[in-house]
Amino acid sequence: MRDQLNEIRESAKLAIEGATSLEELKEIQVQYLGKKGKLTQVLRGMGKLSAEERPVIGQLANVIRDELGEVFENSSKALATKAMEQKLLKENIDVTLPGRQMNLGSIHPVTLVEKRIKEIFTQMGYTVEEGPEVENDYYNFERLNLPKNHPAREMQDTFYISEDIVLRTHTSPVQARVMDELAPHLPVKIIAPGRVFRRDDDATHSPMFHQVEGLIVDENITFADLRGTLLEFVKQMFGEDSSIRLRPSYFPFTEPSAEVDVSCIFCDGKGCRLCKQTGWIEILGSGMVHPRVLEMAGYDSEKVTGFAFGMGIDRIAMLKYGIDDMRLLFENDIRFLKQF
Ligand code: DAH
Repeated sequence: MRDQLNEIRESAKLAIEGATSLEELKEIQVQYLGKKGKLTQVLRGMGKLSAEERPVIGQLANVIRDELGEVFENSSKALATKAMEQKLLKENIDVTLPGRQMNLGSIHPVTLVEKRIKEIFTQMGYTVEEGPEVENDYYNFERLNLPKNHPAREMQDTFYISEDIVLRTHTSPVQARVMDELAPHLPVKIIAPGRVFRRDDDATHSPMFHQVEGLIVDENITFADLRGTLLEFVKQMFGEDSSIRLRPSYFPFTEPSAEVDVSCIFCDGKGCRLCKQTGWIEILGSGMVHPRVLEMAGYDSEKVTGFAFGMGIDRIAMLKYGIDDMRLLFENDIRFLKQF
């Protein structure tokens, strides 16, 4: 019986090592170790052995079973790896190729700047409001102290939808809409970013562009508050060293009015090509809210005052990122947009 067992051990090993596929290996396993396998059959004859022989043969049989089990495992692993390799080869997969890169989009420079503007003003306690892009003549002009035939309407070359409906030429109508909602509540403290439209098209003008309006109405709001607020904004937007300059100007909805320049961020105010050697770059219009605008909204202009401003977001983006043609912002050229 011992010889029989040793013979099984050798022939099984040879068979297992010679197997060329997992299926073949499985068959060999059944042949030797299965219920009707050769090893099992030999062991069935153990009953005939003497009491001394039985444990010795039993132990040998166990050793052989373990040994064969191990050889079988190793061979099975090797064959599985080989099978996988062959499958990959057949499928033409090169597992050494680098992974495919995901094409991530980026945020549009105008959106980036708008987000930053919102951040700065919400930190100062402003809330963000919105108004319609297709606007009534009434809100776009009349409520801003620009009655029909007012010469200042000429400042804004308007797209008319009908006689009374326009594409808003600025974000200022949101001032009137918000005050209508809030009056007589105080304070009003909002910014209103959004798209605006004018019949303009060149390197520094696009027929669609972006503005952000700012409005504060409360008791004791002064021109100094306007200046301080805009200075703080500019410092946060362009850097602590930035300063502003206010120039007297005219807007029908503010009195007095001022245009605001920021110290040139390209030459730190020394004078360069981009600021036309002046050291200053214009960024917004502003002023103290005209008493008539307050009255039309239902505020008592004897008791409350306010300031307002309107700035071009696209221009701020151009300054911040050194973009010299506004049209680049709206052509959607991926090579341009990818840089932000
Ligand atoms: N709406 C003006 C424009 O688009 C900008 C402006 C000027 C807005 C003065 C204001 C302001 O709120 O007070 O040209």
